[in-house]
Amino acid sequence: MKLIKKGAEADIYQTTWQNSNAILKIRKTKNYRNSLLDSKIRKQRTIKESQIISQVKSFGIPAPLVYFVNLKNTSIIMQEIPGKPVHDLSESKIIQLSKSIGKLVGMLHKNGIMHGDLTTSNFIFFKNNVYVIDFGLSQNTIKPEDHAVDLRLIKEILNSAHAKIMIPAWKNFLLGYKSVVGNANYVKITKLVSDIESRGRYAQVV
Ligand SMILES: Nc1ncnc2c1ncn2[C@@H]1O[C@H](COP(=O)(O)OP(=O)(O)O)[C@@H](O)[C@H]1O
Ligand SMILES: [Mg+2]
Repeated sequence: MKLIKKGAEADIYQTTWQNSNAILKIRKTKNYRNSLLDSKIRKQRTIKESQIISQVKSFGIPAPLVYFVNLKNTSIIMQEIPGKPVHDLSESKIIQLSKSIGKLVGMLHKNGIMHGDLTTSNFIFFKNNVYVIDFGLSQNTIKPEDHAVDLRLIKEILNSAHAKIMIPAWKNFLLGYKSVVGNANYVKITKLVSDIESRGRYAQVV
């Protein structure tokens, strides 16, 4: 088994499952957390991630198949998507894919799911499709405020990790998002995003 990424929360290994290439995602103990609470959180996120991956696949979001869930060591074995994280693509490709990403996020929200960790590393581009991964912080919620938090995060990531292309990428994201959720929802959620941002600025001033 080959370690391919040591994340803040989990270690990611390349492995196989019944002759298919697979990913083992194992959530690690955090020593700064109380150990009972820590194992509860790891268990909860492992369950959430596998449940929500299956849910989103059922309404057409490209996501890895879940092969096996082990709650004892809080790990998931899933299909490997052998593409590239959107984060690592060229700027012109990221601008172009932002519209598809907006559509995917729109589909999640329309189906009552908040992703909870919308970064460009959590979208993998493979065979002309964008796959969504990393659902450990996802929630079933139809609250517009929760959906606005998702948009606020991806906007912030574009602003920081992809500053040079932020404006066209965000414009395309919103075009895709609006085309799925419809104008009324779009107006409601983007207004909430502005509200969050103005609160943020106020908090920085004082
Ligand atoms: N199913 C998968 N197929 C291919 N690569 C994956 C898969 N799952 C995770 N990865 C890779 O590992 C990285 C971290 O995995 P992720 O689930 O996002 O965990 P973390 O919570 O540490 O961000 C991803 O950004 C991606 O590069
Ligand atoms: Mg991730």
